[in-house]
Amino acid sequence: MYLYNHRPAGALLSPLTFCLAASVWVTAAAGTTQSFNGCNELADAGFQEILLRSGSNAYTAREQSYWAANVALRPSCIVQPRTTEEVSRIVKVLAKCSGPVALRSGGHTQWAGANDVPNGVTIDLGRMTKVTYDARTKLASIQPGPRWGDVYGDLLKHRVCVPGGRDGNVGIGGFLTGGGNSYYAGLHGLACDSVANFEVVLANGNVVNANAFTNADLWKALKGGSGNFGIVTRFDMYTFPAKDIWGGIRASLRSEGDKLAQTMVDFTNDNEKNPEDAYIINYAFNPSSSPDVLVAHVVVDTNGVVNASAFEEILKVPVVMNDVKMRTMENMAESYLLPGNQRQTWFSLTFENDVRIIKKAGELHDKLAVELKSLIPAGSFSTQCLFQPLPTLFAERSVQRGGNVFGLDRVKKNALVWLITGATETPAQQKIMHDKLSAFSNTLEAYADSRGLDVQWQYLNYVDETQNPLKSYGKSNVDFIRRVAAKYDPTGFFQKRVVSGWKISKVGA
Ligand SMILES: Cc1cc2nc3c(=O)[nH]c(=O)nc-3n(C[C@H](O)[C@H](O)[C@H](O)COP(=O)(O)OP(=O)(O)OC[C@H]3O[C@@H](n4cnc5c(N)ncnc54)[C@H](O)[C@@H]3O)c2cc1C
Ligand SMILES: *[C@@H]1O[C@H](CO)[C@@H](O)[C@H](O)[C@H]1NC(C)=O
Repeated sequence: MYLYNHRPAGALLSPLTFCLAASVWVTAAAGTTQSFNGCNELADAGFQEILLRSGSNAYTAREQSYWAANVALRPSCIVQPRTTEEVSRIVKVLAKCSGPVALRSGGHTQWAGANDVPNGVTIDLGRMTKVTYDARTKLASIQPGPRWGDVYGDLLKHRVCVPGGRDGNVGIGGFLTGGGNSYYAGLHGLACDSVANFEVVLANGNVVNANAFTNADLWKALKGGSGNFGIVTRFDMYTFPAKDIWGGIRASLRSEGDKLAQTMVDFTNDNEKNPEDAYIINYAFNPSSSPDVLVAHVVVDTNGVVNASAFEEILKVPVVMNDVKMRTMENMAESYLLPGNQRQTWFSLTFENDVRIIKKAGELHDKLAVELKSLIPAGSFSTQCLFQPLPTLFAERSVQRGGNVFGLDRVKKNALVWLITGATETPAQQKIMHDKLSAFSNTLEAYADSRGLDVQWQYLNYVDETQNPLKSYGKSNVDFIRRVAAKYDPTGFFQKRVVSGWKISKVGA
């Protein structure tokens, strides 16, 4: 039942008090708990110009702009603040209402409920796209709404760069509050560790800064703690001089998989000696472009050294495709955009850096490809099974930069982040994919467990909604996030009302 067009007669209340009065009235009159969710109240407060109502063309376009087709949940309205001050006033209005609220920056998260909400208000930060650079402080100030490709391009004009997404369409807000793995992680740690200051709108509408000197607990908590504390309206990031990088994708036949698996393990163990280098391997199956599984791999030397020595063994492996060259970070990011508008299912786990895990995952992925072929038409799905280095080096960089809440400093051995993705077209196909990838994940974890190779950590920005990434940060970090959330959001607005994303109140014991 939608009641937001139904006004109590003669309600000449100020917009800020209207919601409370209205929800009481509705409950009494209609005998239900349904209440005003904030759309009319935002309009009454003067936000008509930036309010997209369900049914309008602009609303539909915005709902279609999410990366994954399964995450648009048809909110009652979308509000698109242009400034921090508007975010603050919007939060104040919504705090007095009672419907669910979602928060969206780039809208790139792939699970339904991460960045949109049915029958509620979605705060869409996509119009806050400013990127500036201060040559005196050497800090880049980035609003949450652009895409990484835009950020690299804007900063290149100042000949600087920051660690950011490897796909140019990925958003800023979720990426930076959830971690951020980049080609620069060996040099600078996770991208969140390059945030010197967050400007944050709190639940009471106050705008605060969080950095090493002011609200330092909030600064640390926002590095991995996601949307549990407030809405970040500006990220001030340390920069480094922009250099052309040498990098790109290569792809080999499946028969080269075991050799490449070993190069991944060796690369990860040597990453400390070559922190300027990055490597990813990806067992990929896309039956509409190739009948067989291929092993794609990404090599990057961020110093722009051609054939950098860290890749010596890798470059000996024969390829069927090679796009490695000198290029800007912007070009690299814009060259490899994962296609959107598909129904996405992702699972991610972390393992010790051991070749047995990669080989096992490769075998499971071969089986998966065969099974899926018999269940879903060839043109309607694709899968990727990726490994990325997570050497202890990354956590050392984080500690040097003031620390975060990931708890990776507890992991004493080099590790690998595993990610499996499945793209499908229809809800029924996605159900099949979800069942298969969930089973895959459980099988691989059990295999790792039985050999003592499991690492109890999940990368928040990659996992499925059935996983529990915040819990994987460890008890002391969970307790810390709870304390910081309670301190900066005493009414629990970002737990109970802003329902999108990973919530510390849902972590469990
Ligand atoms: C094609 C593709 C490539 C990717 N590549 C990488 C990669 O190279 N490295 C990597 O680490 N990850 C990568 N990711 C994962 C990516 O980090 C996450 O999807 C991330 O959440 C995207 O950020 P976003 O702003 O689009 O998030 P959104 O989906 O807009 O938001 C997700 C959640 O983040 C929180 N949030 C968002 N904005 C704010 C804010 N301003 N203040 C407070 N909380 C906020 C909220 O809880 C929100 O519910 C990739 C994802 C895709 C789909
Ligand atoms: C890099 O290696 C490739 C072969 O792998 C070779 O063709 C090329 O000349 C090398 N370039 C440099 C600058 O060493």
